[in-house]
Amino acid sequence: MNFETEEKRLAAKLLASCLIGGLLVGVSLYGLYSGGVLPPRDVLPLGGWRRRRKRPIRVYMDGCFDMMHYGHCNALRQARALGDQLVVGVVSDAEIIANKGPPVTPLEERLIMVNAVKWVDEVITDAPYAITEEFMKKLFDEYKIDYIIHGDDPCVLPDGTDAYVLAKRAGRYKQIKRTEGVSSTDIVGRMLLCVRERSVSDSHNHSSLQRQFSHGHSHNVEDGASASATRISHFLPTSRRIVQFSNGRGPGPNARIVYIDGAFDLFHAGHVEILRLARKLGDFLLVGIHTDQTVSATRGAHRPIMNLHERSLSVLACRYVDEVIIGAPWEVTKDTITTFNISLVVHGTIAENNDFQKANSNPYAVPISMGIFQILESPRDITTTTIIRRIVANHEAYQKRNEKKGESEKRYYQDKSYVSGD
Ligand SMILES: *[C@@H]1O[C@H](CO)[C@@H](O)[C@H](O)[C@H]1NC(C)=O
Ligand SMILES: *[C@@H]1O[C@H](CO)[C@@H](O)[C@H](O)[C@H]1NC(C)=O
Repeated sequence: MNFETEEKRLAAKLLASCLIGGLLVGVSLYGLYSGGVLPPRDVLPLGGWRRRRKRPIRVYMDGCFDMMHYGHCNALRQARALGDQLVVGVVSDAEIIANKGPPVTPLEERLIMVNAVKWVDEVITDAPYAITEEFMKKLFDEYKIDYIIHGDDPCVLPDGTDAYVLAKRAGRYKQIKRTEGVSSTDIVGRMLLCVRERSVSDSHNHSSLQRQFSHGHSHNVEDGASASATRISHFLPTSRRIVQFSNGRGPGPNARIVYIDGAFDLFHAGHVEILRLARKLGDFLLVGIHTDQTVSATRGAHRPIMNLHERSLSVLACRYVDEVIIGAPWEVTKDTITTFNISLVVHGTIAENNDFQKANSNPYAVPISMGIFQILESPRDITTTTIIRRIVANHEAYQKRNEKKGESEKRYYQDKSYVSGD
């Protein structure tokens, strides 16, 4: 994928810093010479700067990355900032099942998600749930890892021990600040709520999805107080976070700009794959993210699960994306096309709502009439509904896990104190 260019970029960066190093040595030598202090040239320690050229610092972070969200992406960004290369360990399905029950997203999709994060350099596909002494040795010796990274929330193993005690003892542990305001527990809560709201509003319509859900919650359906509590997001979007996630680069001269728009709710492997294809069709991929109001109007009041800012951050973290429009119009207008110099507008074959062409106002009418509209075959048959269905299908297991995790989340927020860091 993009690793090769990433590597070239790194090599170029390294070379640049070496050249600057050499230049500085040259200048300082010249200075010393003119002062007449230095010994003759042949005994000069010219190799000095070359020896000081450090190999890149490699950091490691692991996780399940189930239902990956911008909180995971932010953790990966912070981890990468503590070194030069980030290696990510993704826990296998078998290990997750053994430790906390089946994951919502199978390994294959979790790998697509992690590989697509722009701060990730390498992925280890069979990381253990807890770092054993043996695996730690492998990380240090085989993968040349310098530091193991984890968030500031304690990670306790079933036997009560700290999961990172070995790395800490070895002096090879670094901590990052936990991302405020989002957790998988919170997202599952929002999804269950979304299904619950729907089952309350269409109480005469019992689709199998709703029946499945209400089976476990019949006594609790009208519990509005707890429902709204679940919906409150702790996430406070700041301008700095958006800057941290941005590439901070516009298109180069003569760049061919490709545009794709959508809700990008619960950002998943299907989204990543269509973005990858879209990016290949040009030099710069601009992604239009619809407002919460637009998404609610087209997909129902219970959507989106993630709000506009949350959806924007997830898309921005993707390596195939160059820029996003935070709150794109539903219709792709002539003005939008001119403003951004868009050469091509694309749309995937798999979407929640693909009857736009039947609607009396096709949002792509303008690009179609200009001959710059293209339908892309979606590589994966996954939609946001697929993800919600997976959760609901396992709702009892999730509900239990959710309640248990909910307690520790609550404790985390009660005991929370300020931690510095980005
Ligand atoms: C119930 O909803 C489903 C989809 O949401 C729809 O296909 C079905 O026709 C509805 N049934 C009734 C009786 O309204
Ligand atoms: C606009 O896009 C076209 C087609 O990709 C490109 O040739 C042109 O240079 C762009 N215009 C500007 C001002 O960058």
